[in-house]
Amino acid sequence: MNLVEEIERLKEKLDVTVVAHFYQKDEVFQMADITGDSLELAKKTFASKEEFVVFCGVAFMGESVKVLNPKKRVLMPKMACCSMAQMIDGNYYDKSIEVLQKSGVAKDDLLPITYINSSAEVKAKVGEMGGLVCTSSNAESIITNALKSGKKILFVPDRCLGQNIANKMGLKSSVVSIFEDSGNHSDSDVICYDGFCSVHQLFTKEDVEFYREKYPDILVAVHPECDPEIVNMSDFVGSTSQLIKYITALPPEQKVAVGTEFNLVNRIRPENTFVLSSTKPECPTMNETTLEDLYKTLKSIEDGEPFFEVELDEKVQKNAQLALQRMLDL
Ligand code: 13P
Ligand code: SF4
Repeated sequence: MNLVEEIERLKEKLDVTVVAHFYQKDEVFQMADITGDSLELAKKTFASKEEFVVFCGVAFMGESVKVLNPKKRVLMPKMACCSMAQMIDGNYYDKSIEVLQKSGVAKDDLLPITYINSSAEVKAKVGEMGGLVCTSSNAESIITNALKSGKKILFVPDRCLGQNIANKMGLKSSVVSIFEDSGNHSDSDVICYDGFCSVHQLFTKEDVEFYREKYPDILVAVHPECDPEIVNMSDFVGSTSQLIKYITALPPEQKVAVGTEFNLVNRIRPENTFVLSSTKPECPTMNETTLEDLYKTLKSIEDGEPFFEVELDEKVQKNAQLALQRMLDL
């Protein structure tokens, strides 16, 4: 059986949209009707008309589609979880607020923002508290707007994204730890939860120095989930879509070293593009989805027994929708 032909046949026959994030394996990515960074995926999929969405990505992405559009049937070929999103759940979220209260920051003085890389449960907690979602491409404008409330921002779960935006905007930031907290938050504009992306932590100062020494004219472009030390050394910082746009617009002879996931960097530009690491920075969970998984998921719809369908508790869905919708409204 030719998997690609079978997938094409099923896509033609079924009322389905196939969605894939840039970090998917090439063979899966090529089968998608919708691609983009997290914000684009949320918007484009929200606007799609088909009954079924087959989402090739990680769980929070499929969940976000379901949160925004509960009538859609959202299936994921692999229920793979983003390791950063798993660093916080509803209990850890509540605990970080308790820790802040003990350090003298009142709950009413906090406006929470959750990076879209978080579970629907965490988005719901944020929605309940009047907060909203952001993505890597709109974090700065979301924080700018949120600060108009006069409150401190509680930014979860990515410490790096929160600190990078705070640094860019000249704001004071601190990190709240639910295990061993410094208690030093009274001066902070942005208080970041202590989560991170294990893939983007792979890019080091030594990697940047290595490339700059080897090719003095090279540019360094990174994702804002990288550590602030790396972001501060870079020439360009942006979401996956922003990175692609920036790199593809460079003259062909311009060398660029890129600090984000391997699959994206590998397909972006054939010449003069380097992975900013001596390792192969693959996102293990994004890479779990195979062409065969995609085929099986589509076939399950044809067979009338769809599997790996995203289902959400009604209250979680409603409160998470508040947080996501507030972002889209801005
Ligand atoms: P983007 O929104 O930039 O696509 O980022 C998603 C992600 O998980 C990056 O690690
Ligand atoms: Fe999550 Fe990092 Fe993978 Fe992005 S690259 S999906 S943040 S683990």
